[in-house]
Amino acid sequence: MRLPEPYKIKMVEPIHLLPKEERKKRLQAAGLNVFALKAEDVFIDLLTDSGTNAMSDNQWSGMMIGDESYAGCRNFYHLQDTVKDVFGYNYVVPTHQGRGAENSFFSILIKPGQYVIGNMHFDTTEAHIHLKKGIPVNLVIDDAFDTSKYHPFKGNVDLDKLEHFIDEKGAENIAFMLITITCNTAGGQPVSMENIREVSRICKEHKIPVYIDAARFAENAYFIKTREEGYADKSIAEIVKEMFSYAEGFTMSAKKDALVNIGGMIGIKDNEELYNRVREINISFEGFPTYGGLAGRDLEAIARGLKEVLDIDYLRARIGQVEYLGKMLTDAGIPIQTPVGGHAVFVNAGKFLPHIDHEQFPGEALAAELYLESGVRAVEIGTCMMGRDAEGKNIIAPMELMRLTIPRRVYTDNHMNYVAESLINIYNRRDNVRGLKFAYEPPILRHFLAKFEWA
Ligand SMILES: Cc1ncc(COP(=O)(O)O)c(C=O)c1O
Repeated sequence: MRLPEPYKIKMVEPIHLLPKEERKKRLQAAGLNVFALKAEDVFIDLLTDSGTNAMSDNQWSGMMIGDESYAGCRNFYHLQDTVKDVFGYNYVVPTHQGRGAENSFFSILIKPGQYVIGNMHFDTTEAHIHLKKGIPVNLVIDDAFDTSKYHPFKGNVDLDKLEHFIDEKGAENIAFMLITITCNTAGGQPVSMENIREVSRICKEHKIPVYIDAARFAENAYFIKTREEGYADKSIAEIVKEMFSYAEGFTMSAKKDALVNIGGMIGIKDNEELYNRVREINISFEGFPTYGGLAGRDLEAIARGLKEVLDIDYLRARIGQVEYLGKMLTDAGIPIQTPVGGHAVFVNAGKFLPHIDHEQFPGEALAAELYLESGVRAVEIGTCMMGRDAEGKNIIAPMELMRLTIPRRVYTDNHMNYVAESLINIYNRRDNVRGLKFAYEPPILRHFLAKFEWA
């Protein structure tokens, strides 16, 4: 039996379903891009799990003791102690969110022309590597691209690909290895402890530093506990400590597993010189090192969230809900990334809508249709998000996905039932869903601000 959530609801926020005709008008006004919808026109918002968390009474009460001093606020020191306790790292530099951490950290780490290798970089990560004139390289295992195949750790780095890449390009041309846990772009898929350990060993041999993109570190730890031999009896806290022991530092968007609505950070294990350089550069982008673009109250909420997220009952309910939605869809024959990831169900829009070509964006088309059908907002992770290559050609995504991203502690299983029924309705009439073409295409991170027309 699946245990219910280990919390009860103390405050509610009303949501409304607009009539279908009204939804159509709003979607057309948004250029068929669900990013441009007003949130109040959305019934159930599965655009992202980023910053959409419901905080606990413990976190809200912590916000009341936010110390809003410019320098040296007590909440920074609480965060520093928490980072030491949870990750075993001595140093932390707060940032306004994950991409702020990427910007500051990568400014120091990447020399123009160097490769940044990883399992699969997130889109803002890729953008920041490019902005520093680095070259992002994804070395995830091939099984990650087969949505129907079971693999317990589809976010793993392919160790053969890694060794070949180092041999071919030379370690001196590689700035660092970034392991993203869980691997968002591969479908929220986890990385095993064995893989993290081996990647770290190989990189150490070649003197390539290893860092972690830690946005969903606790969800990754949950998968290690439940799927990897030898970890069933370990606590989430122990698993987290071990994962981070194999790296030298991390960037983190706190908007995920710190269970808050804003924030980010750079963590550094013990390299004081690196820490000092990061602190210095971070001042011009994010602010003084003890606030880093955040209010004292935000730092307090992050510190408390980093502890709360280690609760196994919370993680079981959280990932159990994602699995619950995934099962309803697979039972109806809808192709999804299996097994489901930690924060989202990734629908294989390419297989769902085989009549729509990559360059007519099946994931975008399905997201637009889902909003029309139900007021539910999802997001494309596919060719539109990938952008164009140096020659201006669309980079064809290895998988055309539509992500149903579940905010933490926000929706109930009844909301999930409605989402599943809506998608099943579309699946039963999928032949009449049309592809999209650009009415306006922004030059960078185009999926956010693009406008479309039906092809
Ligand atoms: C794996 C990963 N890294 C980095 C980021 C960027 O974080 P932020 O949105 O806080 O800038 C995200 C955001 O979704 C992410 O999923």
